[in-house]
Amino acid sequence: MDSVRWQVFPDAATVAGETVRRVLAGAERAIAARGAFHLVLAGGSTPERAYRLLADCDSNWAHWHIYLGDERCLPADDPERNSLMIARAWLDSSPVPGENIHWIPAERGAEQGASDYQAIIQAVLPFDLVLLGMGEDGHTASLFPGQHHDPTRLVVPVHNAPKPPPERISLTVTALCQTRELLLLVTGAGKNPALRRWRSGEPLPVATLECEAGVDVLLDQAAAA
Ligand code: 6PG
Repeated sequence: MDSVRWQVFPDAATVAGETVRRVLAGAERAIAARGAFHLVLAGGSTPERAYRLLADCDSNWAHWHIYLGDERCLPADDPERNSLMIARAWLDSSPVPGENIHWIPAERGAEQGASDYQAIIQAVLPFDLVLLGMGEDGHTASLFPGQHHDPTRLVVPVHNAPKPPPERISLTVTALCQTRELLLLVTGAGKNPALRRWRSGEPLPVATLECEAGVDVLLDQAAAA
């Protein structure tokens, strides 16, 4: 908990604006220092507003490399895929080169997709910035309460997820925490009970993000109230 920094903003729009500001600043730092920006994106609905804003921003896009924190095992063109949401909101209209966008191949099934993606992730760690969301039960990425994964793996197959669809692929805390910066976006009153449980010390999946760089939680008033 010591390494968790909480920042409360008036509303979800302000959280999105701050997210974009921090992502663009992270990109500038990483590209100046190492010539590349390795960014992990979150699925779910919360970050979509920030993705739409990024579509209208300027950056040194050719040096961006994009990954996903988790994916749902559905056909590649299924509207419920995290990749499709992100493509529609941002990347379809962005100059980030297609070969720099590394979707999780979840259409191959949880086991095969996880092992294929692990090889990609292994070669790029550490990330520069990881974006995550939190579910109302305290899950993050596709790491759900009561499910345990081999911590030596970077990417795992997930079965029986309580949030549909049940088959998913997720980066583990081991991979997600190998980053120079981690931003967790939490908006809306529905997230308030899980936040309280986290802050009172319950071992929710989101509470297991113990990263050397710390965790920056960007909240709106509704979630924080
Ligand atoms: C997914 C996720 C998941 C999500 C949280 C929050 O595939 O659904 O990546 O971890 O980030 O459930 O989702 P919302 O932003 O929709 O509340």
